Amino acid sequence: MNAQTEARVDVPLEAGSADQRRPDPCALVIFGASGDLTHRKLIPALYALEFRGLLPESFAVVGVARTQNSTEAWREEMRAAVTEFGRDEMRDDVWKRLAAGMHYVSTDFSSEGGETEVMKLLEQLDKERGTRGNRVYYLAVPPAVISTVVDKLGERRHPSGWVRLIVEKPFGHDLASAKVLNEDIVSNFQEQEIFRIDHYLGKETVQNVLAFRFANGIFEPIWNRRYVDSVQITVAESLGIEDRAGFYEQAGAIRDVVQNHVLQLLALTAMEPPADFEADAVRNEKVKVVRAIAPPDPGYVVRGQYGPGEVDGKKVPGYRHEPGVAPDSETETYVALKVFVDNWRWAGTPFYLRTGKHLSSRATTIVIMFRPAPHPPFLEIAGEGLRPNLIVIQVQPDEGISMRIGAKVPGQGMTIQPVNLSFQYDRAFHVHLPEAYEKLILDAMLGDATLFTRIDEVEAQWSFVDSVVAQWQGSAPDFPNYAAGTPGPKAADALMARDDRLWCR
Ligand SMILES: NC(=O)c1ccc[n+]([C@@H]2O[C@H](COP(=O)([O-])OP(=O)(O)OC[C@H]3O[C@@H](n4cnc5c(N)ncnc54)[C@H](OP(=O)(O)O)[C@@H]3O)[C@@H](O)[C@H]2O)c1
Repeated sequence: MNAQTEARVDVPLEAGSADQRRPDPCALVIFGASGDLTHRKLIPALYALEFRGLLPESFAVVGVARTQNSTEAWREEMRAAVTEFGRDEMRDDVWKRLAAGMHYVSTDFSSEGGETEVMKLLEQLDKERGTRGNRVYYLAVPPAVISTVVDKLGERRHPSGWVRLIVEKPFGHDLASAKVLNEDIVSNFQEQEIFRIDHYLGKETVQNVLAFRFANGIFEPIWNRRYVDSVQITVAESLGIEDRAGFYEQAGAIRDVVQNHVLQLLALTAMEPPADFEADAVRNEKVKVVRAIAPPDPGYVVRGQYGPGEVDGKKVPGYRHEPGVAPDSETETYVALKVFVDNWRWAGTPFYLRTGKHLSSRATTIVIMFRPAPHPPFLEIAGEGLRPNLIVIQVQPDEGISMRIGAKVPGQGMTIQPVNLSFQYDRAFHVHLPEAYEKLILDAMLGDATLFTRIDEVEAQWSFVDSVVAQWQGSAPDFPNYAAGTPGPKAADALMARDDRLWCR
């Protein structure tokens, strides 16, 4: 069977991504409108939504930051940002429609009355653009600023409109700080108004884990400890820390990526089928998985930090020589660990997790390794070529899913060789995948919280991370222990070798 041909379906361009739900009229207020996220992701996502006619009929965007700027100049900056980072061509008619409702306010919310001008503008927009008092507040600001902003917003609720608050990651630094932050937020907003973002959940390939598992009858019966030997989840980045030293020094790989993206991928891979695809049903099942992860055996946790090396043909400095990083920094830029999900379905099945910066390539994958076929005669005659089946969910790049099977090599003997059945998004659907932020912003406007993280899940994630970090207290790491541009520390390979396994490359 040619799986690629089977998978190819002729769908009109964009049919796959068209969401027919249209949000109510509303104003989106972006706090942090002068920042990187707004430039690279948020405004390009809004343009992509406008491009497809998915924004509300009556809509406005208010950018808020302390940096002095005029609305006209901000619009021009944002147009340049869309041209640079957007996925669609820049079309004047589309941009004009979006830009007509865009405004910028320079203010500091921490100063007395810092919110007044924003609130006045929102009332004016309700009248001029028909946004009806409905608000989406997007907090694209450093975590330390969140409390000040939500307190002011809480005091100035519109009497009749609805409100949604999108909070960027990281949500806290550990369990205790996440609880404090949450208390601040819930004293001003109700849980169903709060949308804690982990943009990984907005990725098509991540949502497709649910479709792959639960829309197909053939996988679920074997998706458990009886048939699965082990699972590997990798979030590998070839980039270093860019100019985020201030944040990264405090976070490290475990807080930056394991606490959110890696645990989300694990939860979707291991969860039970939800009763339906409403937000709470999905989130109930995910949180059960995260709570069932046992603290790892310290012998099966590897942390690393990159030294100087070469990435994409360019020499790069070691982490300790990055601008803003302490020369004796003990912040990890790499983590690998083995964990168990202690429940009926997964007891005894190891989940190997790893993430790192400045690795040899960029790849996010989930690999399900199955137990070998229980047929000794084949073992004898097929030799080396007989390898266990595996399913690789390629989250990024080259988004798709492949399955390794053993096939007979044409000819006289019964020689077996591994071959792949594969599905690739671009070949099957002929579409460019939408950016995660498009889906998430639209979902928040629609009040659909399925792809956002509920507080109990955030707390379970932090409990797990805290248990790992506690093991590191008092032990000085042997950093740097891998060269930039390599697959990571040797100790991570040794971790697998101890279990007679290898990382999937
Ligand atoms: N960039 C990304 O790709 C990315 C990805 C995931 C999560 N995030 C999260 O998104 C948030 C923003 O990230 P970013 O990369 O855009 O950061 P950034 O480039 O440093 O921008 C921060 C924004 O917050 C504003 N700000 C800073 N201090 C403020 C204060 N005291 N009061 C009011 N506004 C203040 C800044 O504007 P003024 O200085 O002009 O006030 C700026 O617009 C962070 O929580 C980050 O962790 C970012």
